[in-house]
Amino acid sequence: NTKPVPGGTFVLVEFDDGIAWVSMNRPEKRNAISPALAFEMIEVLDALEIDDRCGVIVLTGSGESWSAGMDLKEYFRATDKLSYDERMRVYRANGTWQWKMLRNYAKPTIAMVNGWCFGGAFTPMIACDLAIAADEATFGLSEINWGIIPAGVVTKAVADVIRQRDALYYIMTGEPFDGKRAAEIGLVNQSVPAAQLRERTAVLARQLLSKNPFVLRQAKLAYHVSRDMPWEQAAEYLTAKADQTRALDPEKGQDKGMAQFIDEKSYRPGLGEYSR
Ligand code: ACO
Repeated sequence: NTKPVPGGTFVLVEFDDGIAWVSMNRPEKRNAISPALAFEMIEVLDALEIDDRCGVIVLTGSGESWSAGMDLKEYFRATDKLSYDERMRVYRANGTWQWKMLRNYAKPTIAMVNGWCFGGAFTPMIACDLAIAADEATFGLSEINWGIIPAGVVTKAVADVIRQRDALYYIMTGEPFDGKRAAEIGLVNQSVPAAQLRERTAVLARQLLSKNPFVLRQAKLAYHVSRDMPWEQAAEYLTAKADQTRALDPEKGQDKGMAQFIDEKSYRPGLGEYSR
């Protein structure tokens, strides 16, 4: 693959054996999300979706932070001076990468929360399929501390993954909490000591890389779409989606899995995947 490595300024990409480590890169600003970072991230995600060096994305932050949320100066104060249309263009760019692209991304995504994670940073963190945090990471819905509500889609994203009591507690108090607490309330899948964070995340990424990529893509899309449907429609949709998956799967996973279990008796699907 001779394509150039995307990003390079506010977003860094490093390829390692199928894993694309994507870092928000404004360490001196605690990786606060500026309009420029948002526009660059759209380009990076767009490029990685069709780059075969990337089988899974790990979204993380340079230095000691995951991200300190939206850049108060560049994303808010500076855009206050713009026309409504110009401001909406910036907001749209941010929504584009933070959830419209990430939520239904063609490849699996893991948020690796290495440090500070505040406010607006919750949206991309939650929009990633899975999340692993350092025990030592610090999370906070700090909006209330400077007199705004968690907007963008932060409130919506939070309501999607954690319980009402926890959501309102942290929205209303703005109290910071660590990675262990984030795991306890289901905001992330797991937290581990910072020294093990990268290796634990790589193990998870490799686990995902071993699966049928087309079926993974369909499975996560089906989860998000069917979740908001009534049962009858969900049953219809999921049946159709399963048929579509079988018809379009380039590696014909279902047929292989079936034959290897029933005919060849070479594996046990309950305990691991078919041989690809
Ligand atoms: N927006 C803009 N600049 C920021 C942000 C931010 N969200 N977070 C940090 N920075 C900048 C600081 O202004 C400072 O810049 P300077 O060096 O030019 O003065 C630099 O990053 C370092 O920040 P410090 O506060 O000095 O770093 P420290 O390590 O002491 O603290 C912490 C880190 C706790 C993350 C602190 O910076 C902070 O509270 N940031 C704001 C977090 C927050 O509430 N984010 C907004 C959430 S709301 C939303 O996203 C919609």
